[in-house]
Amino acid sequence: MEPAKRCRNITPFIVMEILEKIHKMEATGIDVIHMEIGEPDFNVPECVNKVGIEALLSNQTHYTHSLGDIRLREAISDYHQRIYGTVIDPGRILVTSGTSPAMLLLFSALVNPGDEIIISDPHYACYANFITYVQGVPVTVPVYEDQGFIFTPEAVQKRITPKTKAIFINSPANPTGIVIPKARMKEIADVAKANNLYIISDEIYHGLVYEGKEHSILELTDEAFVLNGFSKLFAMTGLRLGYLISPLEFVRALQVLQQNFFICANSVVQLAGRGPGTFGQGNPDHAGNLQQSPCLHD
Ligand SMILES: Cc1ncc(COP(=O)(O)O)c(C=O)c1O
Repeated sequence: MEPAKRCRNITPFIVMEILEKIHKMEATGIDVIHMEIGEPDFNVPECVNKVGIEALLSNQTHYTHSLGDIRLREAISDYHQRIYGTVIDPGRILVTSGTSPAMLLLFSALVNPGDEIIISDPHYACYANFITYVQGVPVTVPVYEDQGFIFTPEAVQKRITPKTKAIFINSPANPTGIVIPKARMKEIADVAKANNLYIISDEIYHGLVYEGKEHSILELTDEAFVLNGFSKLFAMTGLRLGYLISPLEFVRALQVLQQNFFICANSVVQLAGRGPGTFGQGNPDHAGNLQQSPCLHD
C-alpha cells in the first residue's frame, strides 16, 4: 500500500528537514548556529506565558467557538484598528493553530481545481504546496534585485488568465525580506480589482520592520484575505496560534472546514495570545522590542 496520490506532489518542507537534523546534532552536544528557520531569537514575553499558565490553572481548557474565542477576535480587531486604522468586524476573523492551518483552510475554501494563484518567485517554500494540494495551480512572477525584489503590476497583469483567482503577496517577504511600499500595494490592489481577483496577503512578519512602515492590504481593499499569526512577532512558534481575516462571504465555508478538520485552536494559547504583551493593551507598537513591552499583569 502507498500513500495517496495527492501526497506525491508535495515536496518536503526543507526548513523542517534541516531543523530536525540539527536537533539531532544538538542532542549530541554539537553547537549549531541556526540560519534555517524563521524563529525569533527572543522568548515569548513573560506576561504572555503568565496569562497562559493562569488560563491552564483556571481550567480554561475546553473547546472554544470554532471561529476562535470572541475575546481574542475582539483583541485582534482592536489591534488592527490601533496599528493600521482599519475597522475589522471580529466576525470576519478565524483563529487557527498557526498561520499554516489558516492557509490550508483559505486555499480549500477559495480554490477550485485548475484555479490559478499568482505568487512571487522566490516565495515562502510552502505556498506552492498548499495550492497544489487543493488542485490549484501556482503561477509564479519572478522578482529581481534591480526592482527591489518586488513584483511590478505589469508583470502580474501579464500572468493573469481567466483561471486566475487571486494574487498572493507577502510583505515583509520571506525569503527576500523586502517590504512592499504602500503605493506599490495600491497598484497591485488596483490590478486585482480591475480583474475581479482577490488579494491574499501574508502579513506574518509585520512588526519586525526596522526601517519604514509596513502596510496591511486591508488599508487598501476589503477584497482581500489577511494571514497572520503569533509565531514571529511574539515568538510563539511552538505554541501554534494564527488567524485569517476573510471577506464575509467566505467566513461560513471557512468555519465549517475548521469545525470538521480542527474544531478550534488551543483554548489556553488563545487566551495567552490575547493577554498583555501581545494584542492586549500594553503592546507598544511595531518596534520589535517585545522583551521590553509593558506587561499589565506585572
Ligand atoms: C512567510 C511565512 N508565512 C507563514 C509561515 C508559517 O507560520 P506559522 O508558524 O504561523 O504556521 C512562515 C513560517 O516560517 C513564514 O515564513
